[in-house]
Amino acid sequence: MVVTFPCRSFAYLTVRDRLPTILTKVVDTIHRNKNKFFEEYGEKGIEAEKQTIALLSKLRNELQTDKPVLPVTDGLQDTESWNRYLQRHQRLQQDQDSVSWFKSPWLYVECYMYRRIQEAIWLNPPISDYDYFNEAKTQSFFESQQAVMTLCTYVEGVNKNLEKLSKNQLFEHFIKLLQVSLWGNKCDLSISAGQENSQKISPIDSLNSLQPFVLVNDSNAVWSTLLAAQKPGQPGRVDVVLDNAGFELVTDLVLADFLVSSGLAREVHFHGKCFPWFVSDVTASDFKWTIQQTMAANHKWMSKSGAQWQSYLKQGVWSYRDHPFWTQPHEFCDMAADAPDLYATLQGADLLLFKGDLNYRKLTGDRDWDHTVGFDTALRGFGPAPLCSLRTLKANVQVGLQPGQGQKLTSQDPDWMTSGKYAVIQFYSPKSEQ
Ligand code: F6P
Ligand code: MG
Repeated sequence: MVVTFPCRSFAYLTVRDRLPTILTKVVDTIHRNKNKFFEEYGEKGIEAEKQTIALLSKLRNELQTDKPVLPVTDGLQDTESWNRYLQRHQRLQQDQDSVSWFKSPWLYVECYMYRRIQEAIWLNPPISDYDYFNEAKTQSFFESQQAVMTLCTYVEGVNKNLEKLSKNQLFEHFIKLLQVSLWGNKCDLSISAGQENSQKISPIDSLNSLQPFVLVNDSNAVWSTLLAAQKPGQPGRVDVVLDNAGFELVTDLVLADFLVSSGLAREVHFHGKCFPWFVSDVTASDFKWTIQQTMAANHKWMSKSGAQWQSYLKQGVWSYRDHPFWTQPHEFCDMAADAPDLYATLQGADLLLFKGDLNYRKLTGDRDWDHTVGFDTALRGFGPAPLCSLRTLKANVQVGLQPGQGQKLTSQDPDWMTSGKYAVIQFYSPKSEQ
């Protein structure tokens, strides 16, 4: 099968190799930018670069030699919450001396590494705002230009005829753009080594061949939720909990554009990360940059899309926000207690779209669930509003499958849970339980 999405191939590394590899790349990037720091800040910039690298090297040593997980020391907004979480784990591990890198849950240590990288940079002004993953994210955006252009051209075709579309035709476009946003999630950089991307074919054209790889497809329930949210003359609000920058973000923006222009949604709220996270995740500046680049593109329909997105933001039809909870290791069932303000914000949505693998791990607590356990059970009470996970499988957790489906996949394709080849559109509504 020709993979027609602009994605890197997944060169999977083992868990222990992956984190040091990412850390080494961060160190290299910071070191390569030494001259830039000097030009901007003089000797202070060079000193900050040296100190940051010293902290990161110490971190790499802790990680590789299974040292205890240490409290965060930078005194920022989320420091206390991180340290409370560590204490919680310490209490759970009564029989062991300390919570250490190899003996702690993978979800926790993986998140913790990204927080400690950020600590190293935050402790070193004047370079504390530097995004060490920026180069990778912008490269991923530029490498997928061809696919972005074809997608924006498709959107132009849809928008031109919007008024003439029957409800069925609207539904078909919705399904396509939902799937484009789903498969856009293949394009994440935290699991792969960089590889040249020569994507030339329309992402829309590849959807049919990808259909058999969608293991759970609750698209109809998502559609019904959008329709049910329509009060007279007033469609509902959709919140998108974003994942990766680059091509995936463009697919999310295109879907959000369609939701608003077709009248399926009144507003779209995007939720991103407060600091560089899991290599490719969207921060406020990635969000802004992507829209500006799309606007500035030398392609008629791409720049038109960018201008449209910019005007949605100006009018307040779209908005972007972040919250420290998204860059913490908590499972989402903890949100109501640990981030009640965010939980209350999400309760205002009519539909929540959770993008990507990490969000799925947090939705389901990254547990070793039986594959037939219901999504509702795995959510363990999390449900501020009807929600849907759009995720390609990159980690060992999957619920809501048919009896025997998991075993069959394992025998046919042992890497099915981590290869990024399979995907789910998995829906849950707290309303159906009332
Ligand atoms: O597989 C590596 C990994 O870092 C996972 O731990 C994580 O869940 C995933 O990649 C990130 O993927 P996504 O960008 O889809 O959340
Ligand atoms: Mg990601």
